[in-house]
Amino acid sequence: MAGKRKIHIFDTTLRDGEQSPGASLTPDEKLKIARQLERLNVDVIEAGFPASSLGEMKAVSMIAESVRKPVICGLSRMIPRDIDACRRALERAAKKRLHVFLATSQIHREFKLKKNKREILAMVAQQIKSAAKDFKQIEFSPEDASRTERDFLAETVRAAIHAGATSINIPDTVGYTVPQEFTDLIRFLIKKNPELGQKVVLSVHCHNDLGLATANSLAAVLAGANQVECTVNGIGERAGNASLEEIAMTIDTRADFMNCYTDIKLSEITKASRLVSHLTGMVVQPNKAIVGRNAFWHASGIHQDGVLKKRQTYEIMDPKKIGLSGSQLMLGKLSGKHAFEVRVKKLGFRLASKELDQAFVQFKTLADKKKYIFDEDLEAILQNEIAKIPETWKLMSMKVVSETSVKPHAQIKLSYEGKAKQALSTGDGPVDACYKAIEKIVNSKAKLIHYGLQSVTSGKDALGEVLVKLEIGGKEVTGRGTSTDIIEASVRAYLFALNKVSANSPRALSQPSSV
Ligand code: KIV
Ligand code: ZN
Repeated sequence: MAGKRKIHIFDTTLRDGEQSPGASLTPDEKLKIARQLERLNVDVIEAGFPASSLGEMKAVSMIAESVRKPVICGLSRMIPRDIDACRRALERAAKKRLHVFLATSQIHREFKLKKNKREILAMVAQQIKSAAKDFKQIEFSPEDASRTERDFLAETVRAAIHAGATSINIPDTVGYTVPQEFTDLIRFLIKKNPELGQKVVLSVHCHNDLGLATANSLAAVLAGANQVECTVNGIGERAGNASLEEIAMTIDTRADFMNCYTDIKLSEITKASRLVSHLTGMVVQPNKAIVGRNAFWHASGIHQDGVLKKRQTYEIMDPKKIGLSGSQLMLGKLSGKHAFEVRVKKLGFRLASKELDQAFVQFKTLADKKKYIFDEDLEAILQNEIAKIPETWKLMSMKVVSETSVKPHAQIKLSYEGKAKQALSTGDGPVDACYKAIEKIVNSKAKLIHYGLQSVTSGKDALGEVLVKLEIGGKEVTGRGTSTDIIEASVRAYLFALNKVSANSPRALSQPSSV
């Protein structure tokens, strides 16, 4: 990479990404994502906000202990209690960073913080100086930087650097800026503080409220920033953050123009995207750049003809580069274990032999129902195998009747601790009838707060994937189920969520009824 600047990738999927409405992760799920981020070779993982809850503290500590290659970072307000929580959570990290933030814009100063400029400057200097005793790497974010008076912003940045900040992150907190304006701001800050982008890392953190997060981040890179904060699939607060895959692939695909590089292992992008979508329950829109289902599909005959003659006529990136297999037709019911195993490996999964056997049984069952098994079908099976949790509540059978002018009804039979339990219920629709029947048995008092259905592959025999979010005892939990029968997928998703609660906090479920 002679002559090119390295751009550091600071991944905040587990912090800002988890702030996405609807996404919430258990510490174990966060650890799984952190391990994939390590394989993706990000430079920094922002693992969470340790002072915000005991779960966050646990998740950040677990990641700090087991994920050794990237720098592990914890977020903190500019107050001693938060900084101390980060210190404890990151105690065992091989490489650690404290990320402190304090709002600087006039609207935040007046209405949120009720502090004047002098007080803001004093807090920045004092807290960073004190934290520097425990942290070699300190990142400071003047929140709402893009709406802050420029001179005051430059002055605050200067105070932070003097106090010991090693990275300065410029957030476009509300996704308000546009590329040309952000370019000017970054150049202005570098002019006022020439160590930015040199001795001190100059980072940007852009939100996507106007759909400009990636464009603004890349404009900042061209203007001299050398770190980008981003998330897998662009998830994050409100409309999300700049998406990691878009940043990494633009820098790679347009290296001729960008004149910089990242250390991202591009072939891990697809796996990271699918894992994050699977565990957060946030479905990736089909036309999402890089990782959307349609991103490498050519529908028009003219395009197909062009691609067959020379792929680059309509494809600026090679799908294989981001970990897609590139092949169209997948395995079917005549395929043997060997072919299955080869495909699993090619998709990048490493399963123990027992998991592989179980996944093969599921594959065969699906192959009996469905003519072709595509990579997405296989991945759904393999993810299920990896994310396996004990099946406290197991579906034994279900019978659902839905006729015109008759209220749908469902009979569900579950096994619990080796005993069969069944219940019958009517409902507003077949899924509702099933969920009511399950509740008669389990008595979890769960409230369904989200239900989403999508087909994993196309065709009449496509695999349907249902994502549900339940609220149980004040906590939210997601569940996912796949089947060629969408009612069965709905039941499996609901049971998956209940089993997750049983596995993580058994007492959150009240005693099952004696049905
Ligand atoms: O958007 C924002 O300003 C943030 C900061 C905490 C960096 O997420
Ligand atoms: Zn943010």
